[in-house]
Amino acid sequence: MTALRDRLTVGELAARSGLATSALRYYEELGLISSERTAGGQRRYHRAMLRRVAFVRAAQRVGLSLDEVGTALARLPQDHAPTAAEWAPVARAWQHRIDEQIAELQLLRRKLGGCIGCGCLSLKTCGLYNPDDTAAERGSGARYLLGDQPPEPNAVNAVNAAK
Ligand code: FES
Repeated sequence: MTALRDRLTVGELAARSGLATSALRYYEELGLISSERTAGGQRRYHRAMLRRVAFVRAAQRVGLSLDEVGTALARLPQDHAPTAAEWAPVARAWQHRIDEQIAELQLLRRKLGGCIGCGCLSLKTCGLYNPDDTAAERGSGARYLLGDQPPEPNAVNAVNAAK
C-alpha cells in the first residue's frame, strides 16, 4: 500500500471533499482554509484541510453561517494540523450553538403545518392563532417561529365572541 501524500492540489482537494474548486478558493478567500504555494505558484493544501472543509460543509448543512464557522476555525492553529486536543474546545464551543439549532429545527417541524404568525392569514387555524394578524404587533416575520407564543385559542374565541 502506498502512503498518501500530505499535500494536495486544489483538484485533489475538490475530488476528495466533493466541493468545486471555485468553492474551495472562496473558502480560502474567507480564511476558512489555507494553502502553500509551490515554486511555480501552484496551491498545495495540507491534507488536514479536508477536515476543515468537512466541518464547514456540515455546519452549513445545519444552517450555521460562514461567519460562525470562521470564528470557530480561527481558534485552530495555522502552523500545523490540529490535534484532537486542539479540536476539542472548538467542538465544545459549538455544542451550545448546535443545541440551539436543533431546538429551532424541532420548533419548525412542530409548527410548520399550522399557523406560524407570518401575516398570511391563509390557513383556517390563522383565525384562531393570529386573528386579524395580531402577531404583527410583536414585530416582523413569522412570530411563532421566532419564539413568540400564540394566544390560547379559548382566549381568542372569547375575543371573537365579544366582537
Ligand atoms: S400561517 Fe401565516 S398568519 Fe397563520
